[in-house]
Amino acid sequence: MEFFLDTANLEEIEKAKEMGLIDGVTTNPSLLAKEGGDWRSQAREICQMVNGPVSLEVVATEAEEMVREARDLVQFGPNAVIKIPMTLEGIKAVNRLSEMDIPTNVTLVFSVNQALLAAKAGANYVSPFVGRLDDIGTTGMDLVYQILEVYAQYDFATQVIVASIRHPEHVLQSAQMGAHVATVPFAVLDKLASHPLTDKGLEKFLQDWKKIA
Ligand code: E4P
Repeated sequence: MEFFLDTANLEEIEKAKEMGLIDGVTTNPSLLAKEGGDWRSQAREICQMVNGPVSLEVVATEAEEMVREARDLVQFGPNAVIKIPMTLEGIKAVNRLSEMDIPTNVTLVFSVNQALLAAKAGANYVSPFVGRLDDIGTTGMDLVYQILEVYAQYDFATQVIVASIRHPEHVLQSAQMGAHVATVPFAVLDKLASHPLTDKGLEKFLQDWKKIA
């Protein structure tokens, strides 16, 4: 499973790069707004820093305008992937972009039927938002399971990015289900490496070592 970092923060990207754990980045308008400053130079810098796909989202709501924005965003780097919201206008745009060989990530996906439309339109990635489904009292990971099941039936090439990840359990389940990608916030990436027994064990090894060093 690939790990994308779900952030627009350059420091977090740098740290994850040092860990050698990052296969790509996903941003969205909220994440870029959180960083402030000039979003265009921020997005360009992210594309330069990352050796893998970087999702940049359009903010238009009509297909024609989405395509225009996408053509601008792909200039940010050869690794730019255009995030398109899951609406009928979005699906129209994905069809057009797919014909133009511009890679897309269909975002804000909350049902299997939405994921099916995205795949049929030729999306490279689809992003089911598991945390936001959990927030409304449903089990977000069930959606990932069902999307993978349907995609396998028809051999769709669309890859599933598990998005809106809130905790390590989401990552574990994504891997168990065979999701292609998990896009993780930095705080979750950090937690994946930790275990209290690892800390306790290391402390003991180091204490014992002092006896003979
Ligand atoms: C990534 O593609 C999504 O934009 C992101 O995971 C959404 O996460 P949130 O629900 O925590 O905002």
